[in-house]
This record gives sequence, C-alpha cells and structure tokens, in this order.
Amino acid sequence: MSRYGPNKHDVLIVGGGGAGLRAAIAVAEYNPNLSIAVVSKVYPMRSHTVSAEGGAAAVIKPDDSFDDHAYDTISGGDWMCDQDAVEAFVKEAPDEMLQLEHWGCPWSREESGKIAVRPFGGMKVKRTWFAADKTGFHLLHTMFQTTLKYDPIHRYDEYYVTSLLVDEGRCQGVIAIELATGRVEAIAAKSVIMCTGGCGQVFPFTTNGNIKTGDGMALAYRVGVPLKDMEFVQYHPTGLPFTGLLITEAARAEGGHLLNKDGYRYLQDYDLGVPESEPVLKSMELGPRDRLSQAFVKEQEKGRTINGEYGSYVYLDIQHLGEEVINSKLPFVRELCLKYENIDPVEEMIPVRPVVHYMMGGIDTDIHGATTLDGLFAAGETACVSINGANRLGSNSLTELLVFGARAGKAAAEFATEQEGFSSGLEALVSDEEKRIDNLFFSNGKGSSERIATIRDEMHQTMEAGAGIYRNETSLKESQEIIQELKDRMQNISIQDQSYTFNTELVAAFELTSMLDLAEAIIQSALQREESRGSHQRSDFTERDDDNFLAHSMAYRTEDGLPSIEYKPVTITRWPPGKRVYGQQH
Ligand code: FUM
Repeated sequence: MSRYGPNKHDVLIVGGGGAGLRAAIAVAEYNPNLSIAVVSKVYPMRSHTVSAEGGAAAVIKPDDSFDDHAYDTISGGDWMCDQDAVEAFVKEAPDEMLQLEHWGCPWSREESGKIAVRPFGGMKVKRTWFAADKTGFHLLHTMFQTTLKYDPIHRYDEYYVTSLLVDEGRCQGVIAIELATGRVEAIAAKSVIMCTGGCGQVFPFTTNGNIKTGDGMALAYRVGVPLKDMEFVQYHPTGLPFTGLLITEAARAEGGHLLNKDGYRYLQDYDLGVPESEPVLKSMELGPRDRLSQAFVKEQEKGRTINGEYGSYVYLDIQHLGEEVINSKLPFVRELCLKYENIDPVEEMIPVRPVVHYMMGGIDTDIHGATTLDGLFAAGETACVSINGANRLGSNSLTELLVFGARAGKAAAEFATEQEGFSSGLEALVSDEEKRIDNLFFSNGKGSSERIATIRDEMHQTMEAGAGIYRNETSLKESQEIIQELKDRMQNISIQDQSYTFNTELVAAFELTSMLDLAEAIIQSALQREESRGSHQRSDFTERDDDNFLAHSMAYRTEDGLPSIEYKPVTITRWPPGKRVYGQQH
C-alpha cells in the first residue's frame, strides 16, 4: 500500500511489459522505501513482450566485442543511431542478461552448459541469447515473478490511462479508467515512466498484438513532447499472411530458406549489403530486415510471389532442418503453423510476407530515459533513445528494454526523490478529464453512422498503401488527406456499448484516436525526409542524403494543423557515416 494513500506514489510506470517491469525493479532497487505503481491496460503477463520469440543480443563469446556489437547496430541502423546510446547499450547488455539468469530466466545452453547463442540478421557473429523460441515469454515471466518480491510495487491491472496529469510544468501522474468498473481515477506520482510499447496496429498486417496501439506515444505527444524518427517503421520479412503472426528470424538463423513461387532462393538476386567475399548463399536469409522486406516487394513486382486470399506471399522452407531441430529449437514456430495455418513445417513450406513489426521511432528521450517534460520518462519500444536508427537489428529490442528500462527506473527514482510533493491544481485537471470522457464518448455522435471499425479499416488501408515499405510524395500526401478526414469523422463516432463494465468499445475509441495522431506523425515525418535510409524508402528520393538528413526528425503536435517537424543532429562518437555493408569488418 502506498505511503501517501491509495492513489499517490513516488514513481508510476505505465505499461507492465518488459521495459515497465524492469523499470519497476530498478526503482525498488534504488530505494526500497519509494512507493511504485505499475498501471497496465492488461494483466502484465499479457503484455506484448510475451510474444517475442527469437532472442536477445549481448556480447558473451570470446570471438565478439562491444565494438563489434556497436558497429553492427550502427551500420544496421544506417547511421541514424545515437552512438553514445549504443555504446552504453552494448556495455550494459551482458550484465542485464546475466542478471536475468540469476532471477531465473532459463536461457538455452550449449552441451558444455555455457550460454548458447544463435546468429541473427545483420550481426556478423552469433550473439543472440535465446530460450528456445519463446524468449519473450521466459523473460517477461522471470521479471514478473521478480517484481512480486518487492512489496512497494503496487499494480493497477486493467486500467486504461486516458491522459497525463501535467501541472506547473511537470508530469505528476495520470488519469485512468478502471476497466472493471468504468470509474475514472487520478493516480498521482512524482515521476512517470512510459513503457507502453509500439504502435504496429496503425497498420493492417502486423506481428503486434491488438493492444499495441501506441497509447503512451500519443499521451506524451499530446502534452507537447516530440516524437522522434516516426518515419522509420520496421517490416519483419516473415509474418503469416492473414494473422501477421511472427515466424521468428530464428527459423532463418537455424538454416531456413526463403523461396519464391518457382522454388528459387530469390534473395541471391538482390543487394543486401553482403560483400562478395562473404559466403552469400549461407547468409542471405539473414540480411537486414529492411533489405529483405524491400526484396519481397521487388519480387512481387516481377510476378514471382504467390497470390493468396490476403495478398502476396513467398515461402519459408525449414523442412530440411528435420523434426528434431524444429522441435528443440523452433517448437513455437511449429505450434503457430499448426494452429493458425493448419500446416506442419516439418513436411510443408510456410507462407510468409513482410508485416509491420517494430517502430524505431517514439518518444524522444535522453540516454537516461528523460523526456523534454520534467517528471516524464520513457523506455522500450515506446521510446526513441535512439539505438535503432533507421532499421533495428533483430534481437536488440529485448536487450534494449532491459538496459533502458533499468536506466529510466533509476533516473525516475532520482527525480521523484528530489520532489517535495504535488501541486494543488490536480483536482481541477481530473474533473476536466471526466467531462472530456463523458462528452466525447457518451454524448457526441449519437445517431451517427460512424463506426470505430470502419475508420480503423480505412486508416489501415491508407497506411499500408501510402506509407508502407516504399513511399513517395504522392502516396504520402494522399494518405495524409485521408487521415485528416478520418480524424474529422472520429468526432462523430457513437459508442454503442453504454456499459461501465469492461467497455472495450470505449477503449477502442481512445486507442483509435491515439493511432490517428500517430499515423499523422508517421506520414508528416516521412514526407519531409526526402531521402532513402534503412526502412524509410522513398521511390522519389532513392539515395541516402547525409548532407541534409543525418538528423532525427522531431514531430510536435499542433492544435489544428499538421504536425510540425524539426530536426536534431545524430550523435556520432566513433563511427563516422559509411557505406552500409553487412558482414564487413569496421
Ligand atoms: O524474429 C524474431 O524473433 C524477432 C526478434 C526481434 O524483433 O528482436
């Protein structure tokens, strides 16, 4: 129980996934007398971290080094990563991973008993730790169990945060709806950490669960915090065509092949940044994700993909790995294929297509997770610190949420310790928010024919068509107009479900409002970046342009118009911009 009363805490964390739980533990470790709240719209073990599969990268083997991990990350990110953040990340990564081991994470082992590592895309040595292909599940479970031993961590499970309490220039908590009762509550805190994940649900085909609607990004954006690098949207090359479910990169790391409709390993026809001296046929399926997704589009244009009910696809073939390897290293891949596609990858090929997987951009933070608003911090996919640049390397994100979850937790604890108390204006903010909720969703739009599902579908179609793997000025402007219309129409939606108990329609309306704001930020940032870099490919500006765009885009929300975009230099410490060549020594 809080030492201030039920709804007042020192540090409040929004989001109960990997970053949120790691941050909560870091606060408790910093000072066990601080009162900590974790507010989450789902029970923490249902957070999206649970579905991460392939692994988490950290230097552990003698053939590896911090510099190699840093260089792979920076070059993979097409030089958009802040190198001070990357250097901190690679150095702190191994300790975080060992810490998890001590908390009970069952990392897969070699015969010798040492930690096993597998190769992952864009990394020149094997450095991805894994727990079979259920790494996220084990990682989240380990941290969830660990939080249970800290009494000061108080959980608000199944609460949906509708706004941040900002008064006297600092963030002092949140307003949230308790989903079980519909009650609107203020939860005050001296510092707040956003750990709400990404916003893959802005797009129609995504590996992201339905809960990944970018709520935290939108909450911060609405109170004036900029969103950084939103144009960089990662497509994972191997999602199941209809559901978007992830078929982990580990399947290719273990030796899986990508084949077009003629059974041909088409990647050998594309420049993946693999130098000729490298064993191309061995590593091409492990090229960086952006390049693999772009190769799929080219293959589709040549008519060499298969046309299915849910769009084009190619095949991922792992049959040659054999049942034993599949069962021991890729059991979840087999389970997903059997349950969701009714195929057995031991004897059949898996249909796959690129699907939205990860946002490289997010809430702008410094290296300690601090945002531009006093008292507000962010970590994990919702934040952009930025270690992922224009294209994240697979298996860096689980490690990122550990390293920067811990950093943000410590920094937020320090900030909270320095604050005297809460300002007197908070009550007025709460009553304003209650009125806003009533007006928006229980009064407006009655009798209107606008439906959440229709607007969401239209947002999906326009984002995929206009702001997908390839974009250009025309496609982005068309999407921009449609998103603006959708935002207007959103004013007229009517909520059919008038109940106060688990009103999922009301939550969906909040989520869609957030996603439309984020869609606009993605489009505007993409429109103004007149170059191609990493996952941002402009068919009208096909080259990388370091002279004009070696800079982070910073999207600021404006009251009525389009987002305003400013630029901030990328931090370069030791690796000046170079050609992005995978596998080459630096
Ligand atoms: O394919 C995967 O297992 C994804 C890993 C990641 O995005 O880090």
